[in-house]
Amino acid sequence: MSHADPPTVPLLDLAAELEPLRPELDAAWRRALASGQFVLGPEVDAFEREAADYLGVRHAVGLNSGTDALTIGLRALGIGPGDEVITTPFSFFATSETVLQLGAVPVFVDLRPGGFLLDPDAVDAAVNERTRAILPVHLYGELAPMEELNRIARRHGLRVLEDAAQAFGARAHAASEAAADAGAAGDAGREAPARGRSAGGLGHAGAFSFYPTKNLGALGDGGLLTTDDDDVAAHARRLRNHGSERRYHHLEPGYNSRLDALQAAWLRVKLPHLDAWTQARRRVAARYDALLGDIEGVIPPRRTPEHVYHQYTVRLPGGRRDAVAEGLRARGVASMVYYPETLDGYGGRTHGDLPHARRAAAEVLSLPIYPTLSEEAQAHVADALRSAVAEGAAQPGD
Ligand SMILES: Cc1ncc(COP(=O)(O)O)c(C=O)c1O
Repeated sequence: MSHADPPTVPLLDLAAELEPLRPELDAAWRRALASGQFVLGPEVDAFEREAADYLGVRHAVGLNSGTDALTIGLRALGIGPGDEVITTPFSFFATSETVLQLGAVPVFVDLRPGGFLLDPDAVDAAVNERTRAILPVHLYGELAPMEELNRIARRHGLRVLEDAAQAFGARAHAASEAAADAGAAGDAGREAPARGRSAGGLGHAGAFSFYPTKNLGALGDGGLLTTDDDDVAAHARRLRNHGSERRYHHLEPGYNSRLDALQAAWLRVKLPHLDAWTQARRRVAARYDALLGDIEGVIPPRRTPEHVYHQYTVRLPGGRRDAVAEGLRARGVASMVYYPETLDGYGGRTHGDLPHARRAAAEVLSLPIYPTLSEEAQAHVADALRSAVAEGAAQPGD
């Protein structure tokens, strides 16, 4: 590299985020080591309480991964073979993979035009007598339209499982809270518990991932199922432990999906910092909005107050996305396509066409975003994007 080389900007910088926490992370690791208990135990109990308090839910169940949180969440909500689960075709594979693994049928409906989230009207139109649940995804950290989805769920007696893997700490805007209070649980026939205002507390249950790159990430795999429903929580606790409540007595086949004490100890260190990191992500996103606003052919994401910007994802219409990504790479800027394919190709069925989801898969590009991303690095990303787009536009045949 010569002196003239521009800075390289990675997609994320976990080391920079963790460095200031090292003394606390070391102490947590020593505490867990000294306890001699490495699977579940007091660290996991404490993390579950702290996470439930933070999210405003009655129960938080620590699991092995976000994928397991979806599987166990679906089963704890009573979803089984042949049941239909209406969901988005534009998400990480685990969203529909887990439905398929249970022998249930993911039914894909389109996104709301111009965004990356499920279209409630399309969901409503897809409900039939086999429908049992709605599985919205808070993609990139943006809340799905939960008020409308909960209303549909109540009307048809459906369960709602939020895939909140990318949205730890996203809180419903004040105007949405009254409706969220009525909540999906309104149909459960039991007294509605105090509703959470956060992602994971807006449906009957929420599935979180602590994969290291998430806004709240562990130092390995981890996941969480949240719910206000005592029965769902008890069922999930049983399922994570081989279907047993009493050692060597099994009520049903379950999983080995318990959160490790070490991961819980580290997550307890990170959780108190999450709000500051979220604010930093929002500042980064606002700076991108300002820097990219005048680049023709680049559509910035919709700005909503709840967004926690797990990703900052622009659209590049006109078939130029991949060339622009290559142009960024050549200028030292990492980017990623989440996700290049819609999920309907992997099983399940579609209801209606999916033009908005297919368009999203063809146009999206996620730019570097993390709490410590500097203004200088962002300016470089913006310059690189401007040049890469201009270069793409100059190519004949576009
Ligand atoms: C939307 C979504 N759902 C589910 C998952 C699965 O989580 P995990 O990787 O912890 O199994 C992820 C993360 O990878 C995700 O982004």
